[in-house]
Amino acid sequence: MERRSRKSMNHKSHRDLPPLGGLCTFDEASRPGLLIEPCVSRLKRYHYAFKRLHEIFTARITAEPVYELKSAFSLHAYLCSEHVMSLRTRVGEMREPPLGLDAIPSDPLRLFFDEILAAPDTARLLVGLYEKALPALDAALARHLQETNPLADAPSVRVIRFARLELADLISFGAKAIAQLVGPDPREQMRPWLSLLEDCLAAAGHLDGSHAAALKTPAPLHSAAPYVYDGRPQRDERFRDPWNQGVNPEVFLYDPAMPARAKTLMLYYRRLREIDVPEMMASIVAQTPGKPAAYYRDMSRQLWDEARHALMGEVGFTANGVDWQLARISWNWSYRLNTECTPLERHAVLYFIEQGLMGRNGKRYEMEVGLQSGDPLAGLFQDYDWADEVLHARIGRDWYVSAMGDPAKATAYGDACWSRILNNWRGVLEEGLTLHENWWPALYTAACQSWGLAPDPKVLAYHQTYEGSRADLKQVSNSG
Ligand SMILES: [Fe+2]
Ligand SMILES: [Fe+2]
Ligand SMILES: [Fe+2]
Repeated sequence: MERRSRKSMNHKSHRDLPPLGGLCTFDEASRPGLLIEPCVSRLKRYHYAFKRLHEIFTARITAEPVYELKSAFSLHAYLCSEHVMSLRTRVGEMREPPLGLDAIPSDPLRLFFDEILAAPDTARLLVGLYEKALPALDAALARHLQETNPLADAPSVRVIRFARLELADLISFGAKAIAQLVGPDPREQMRPWLSLLEDCLAAAGHLDGSHAAALKTPAPLHSAAPYVYDGRPQRDERFRDPWNQGVNPEVFLYDPAMPARAKTLMLYYRRLREIDVPEMMASIVAQTPGKPAAYYRDMSRQLWDEARHALMGEVGFTANGVDWQLARISWNWSYRLNTECTPLERHAVLYFIEQGLMGRNGKRYEMEVGLQSGDPLAGLFQDYDWADEVLHARIGRDWYVSAMGDPAKATAYGDACWSRILNNWRGVLEEGLTLHENWWPALYTAACQSWGLAPDPKVLAYHQTYEGSRADLKQVSNSG
């Protein structure tokens, strides 16, 4: 080591330019590091960790009531799926197939993630994910950077640096969420479980297997019985009337007599209502095992886009000084698809709807309304919403249509599945689940106040519900 350092010191780059492409110093590049075998073995464990994290985040989106957590889980699941792909690619560069990427690298590590997947409440889930799993993964990645040769293993270093950048964001979000949501009592109660998680990591020789493994794998606690996915959407108290179908935004949006500025409120409503798409897509992903990693990445990207569209709706209302709780953001679509259809039928419906958005009455029209409205944010959001939906149509072709065999069959099946979901406007009213309250006048009045405009009586009087319209609305989808 001494001798190498001295030699390195004598070696000068041309005119003192940064050597080695700027990767590192000669000393760092001269350091012995992980050989291919242990390097691949560690990469496979990071891959396994990201895969399980993606699974857990996705599985908990639908039944998580808190909107901010639902949105964050959507993003965090997607980011994990991207790192799964990068690590798979890197392992494929270092080894010939079979790569063994679908093997479980360690039983105690499997138990570690099984326990977090089965966490019986949100407090345990948050602490398990953001205080245990993600920091253990980040520590393993940091160790890799310390122990590998930065020149020889530069491609892994690059993958790991990107992963750590996003892991830091996830961990920071988790710390803030836990500070707000997990008090001292719940934390005290989960102490034995947190020790169990620590014991799992010790038994696995840490997440990367770099340490001597403790002898015994602990007994499972929450995962003693097999995990059962809960596909029923849940919402927090701000979603006051989730079966409400008292305002039909599509009829308003396509009425040439209505002004564009007021239509932006319906656009923001439609965007925010898209939170039902992640709830539904999460159920497809959670209940469709055995697909290639690229399927989960693409579906998770789309899922996150849909959550992002909902967030754009929230921002649209907020930027216009309107409390979005004045609108009734329903779960009718996700609830019904998740409880009445199989995962393939749900995907068929999604594909059918998204194809419909590409026509004349769809994303182009929404963007034009946004641009004409005088609210530049509405035009901007609709422009990106449209671009995302074009990507989603492609994802639908890549995974759903190809599984069905041909486009005509795929579309017909989506149409048939969606037509089976009959309008439940009267049903939910009779069951006493909602009164279909007309929330539009209060929302529009609040917006006019914020805009400093007098309400237009014709707009204020708008009162078209979903009664009598087909659930699928054929030409104008009621989700998108
Ligand atoms: Fe979409
Ligand atoms: Fe959408
Ligand atoms: Fe959208």
